[in-house]
Amino acid sequence: MPINQLVNYCLRIYAKARKCEECGLICSNNCNTCLETIHNDFTNLRSYDCPHMINCYTCSYNYKYASEIFYAFNALVSHPSTRKDTFKILSIGCGACADLFGIHHFLTTNSRNVQLTYTGVDYNDRWSNIHRVIDRIFISYYQTEFIYQNAFDYIDGLDTVDFNVMILQYILNEVIKNNNQDGINNFIDKLVEGVIEKLPSGSLIIFNDINHKCVRDYYPIIARKVKVNNSILEAYLRFTQPTTHTFGGNTLPSDGLVFATHADTRFRVKSPCSSCIYIIYKQ
Ligand SMILES: C[S@@+](CC[C@H](N)C(=O)[O-])C[C@H]1O[C@@H](n2cnc3c(N)ncnc32)[C@H](O)[C@@H]1O
Ligand SMILES: [Zn+2]
Ligand SMILES: [Zn+2]
Repeated sequence: MPINQLVNYCLRIYAKARKCEECGLICSNNCNTCLETIHNDFTNLRSYDCPHMINCYTCSYNYKYASEIFYAFNALVSHPSTRKDTFKILSIGCGACADLFGIHHFLTTNSRNVQLTYTGVDYNDRWSNIHRVIDRIFISYYQTEFIYQNAFDYIDGLDTVDFNVMILQYILNEVIKNNNQDGINNFIDKLVEGVIEKLPSGSLIIFNDINHKCVRDYYPIIARKVKVNNSILEAYLRFTQPTTHTFGGNTLPSDGLVFATHADTRFRVKSPCSSCIYIIYKQ
């Protein structure tokens, strides 16, 4: 299974002894702790700044995030947005490309024969070794390319924004954490005016992110802006977990991981699925 090919690569690299002695950060040879601090402590401004942390992230989080995207696509299984011959995917802040693995799982389980291109844009080039592995894993299925740039600068430089699927997975919470209100508004303006408005009609835009800490409050704000110049359909999906966060549209019927995971106890494989998914379909 492709996701395990990538995770097995990361497990191998992460097995290196005394790995974080040279990263210069407070990793204590266990990047699970670093990741949980970044994710759970909104005052901690550390980013994905250690090469080992990136491998650890992939082993711990990729199954959950890929499963969430799988469920998002599966909820649209009969909708024209997923019944295309061609998926031209733009993933903003692609990281370890959990979205691509989730979509691959959707296509294979539904026996869909789709021509797929995937452009992952991430300004953090520490992901590049993982991207090289992803290129190899999917070489006979899909055309993948990776750009190490601010996504908005990359899109500004394109003559046409020729994508029909755009994904922002676990990006918005970081934007909110790392910026003041002006910075957040600026991000939303660039996203709507610089990207969403330029996507062709029939495009599917998926936000997948945490279902708490105000992130979901920005979806109606994004929607209002998009609706000024575009006709859209929109949907919110959520999982039964966490039970304390009941925001968001239809509850998906399952929240279990859709992949068989590794059993390496050095990693805390995250589950169940618990995000809030906001979907826009450009008519
Ligand atoms: C939490 S990670 C999520 C990675 C991946 N989407 C996933 O689901 O696992 C956020 C990533 O977004 C990248 N990022 C955030 N804003 C970006 C921007 N404006 N342009 C390019 N990359 C961005 C960061 O470098 C980081 O790798
Ligand atoms: Zn480190
Ligand atoms: Zn670390």
